[in-house]
Amino acid sequence: MAFRISVLALGAVFHLLIPGNTPAADDIEKAAAVKEEDGKHLDAEGNPTFKFENDGTVDWYTFSGYRRYHSDCHVCHGPDGVGSSYAPALATTMKNLDYPNFLAIVAEGRKSVVGGKEVVMPGFGNNKNVYCYLDDIYVYLRARAVGAAPRGRPPKKADKPEGAKAYEASCMGG
Ligand code: HEC
Repeated sequence: MAFRISVLALGAVFHLLIPGNTPAADDIEKAAAVKEEDGKHLDAEGNPTFKFENDGTVDWYTFSGYRRYHSDCHVCHGPDGVGSSYAPALATTMKNLDYPNFLAIVAEGRKSVVGGKEVVMPGFGNNKNVYCYLDDIYVYLRARAVGAAPRGRPPKKADKPEGAKAYEASCMGG
C-alpha cells in the first residue's frame, strides 16, 4: 500500500512541475473501472481496464494478459514488464502510451536505432495468439504501469466470461 501511495504522490508532483503537459500520463484514477460489460471493465473514456477485488482476485482479462505477455513479449520486454537491455520496460512506459497507440505499435511493430544499433519490435498483426488477446495484454500492462498489479502471477482470478469465450472462438477461428 505504501508503494501505491508514493506512486500517486509522485504523479501529483509531476503534474505540478509540468503544467499543461499533454497527453496526461495514465494513473490509477484514470484507469478506474466505471463500467462492466460481461466481465470486461472499461474506464470513464471507454478504454479497457482492470478491476481487482480486495481479496486479490483479478479480472479475467488481466490474468489472461499476464499469461499472453509471458508467452510472447517477456523475452524482450522482461518478466512482469520490467524491461531488458534490448526493449523498454512496459511496466513503466505504458503510463505514456494510450490504447490506440498501443494497438498500432503491437500490430505494426517498430524499429529504431539506439546507440548505433538497430532494435526491432516485431509486428504481431498476423499472429492470432497475440492479436486475439490484445485487450488482455493491454489491461495487464496498464495495471502494472499505474502501480496496481505487483510483480508475479496474480494469485486469484475471476472466471472466464462468456463474452471472452465467444470472442476467442470467433477470432481464433476466423
Ligand atoms: C524481439 C523482441 C520483442 C518482442 C518479442 C516484443 N517486443 Fe515490444 N518492443 C521491442 C523493442 C526493441 C521496442 C522499442 C522499439 C523502438 O523504440 O522503436 C519495443 C517497443 C514496444 C512498445 C512501445 C513501447 C514504448 O515505450 O514506446 C510496445 C507497446 C511494445 N513493444 C509491446 C510489445 C508487446 C505487447 C509484445 C508481445 C505481444 C512485444 N512488445 C514483443 C522488442 C520486442
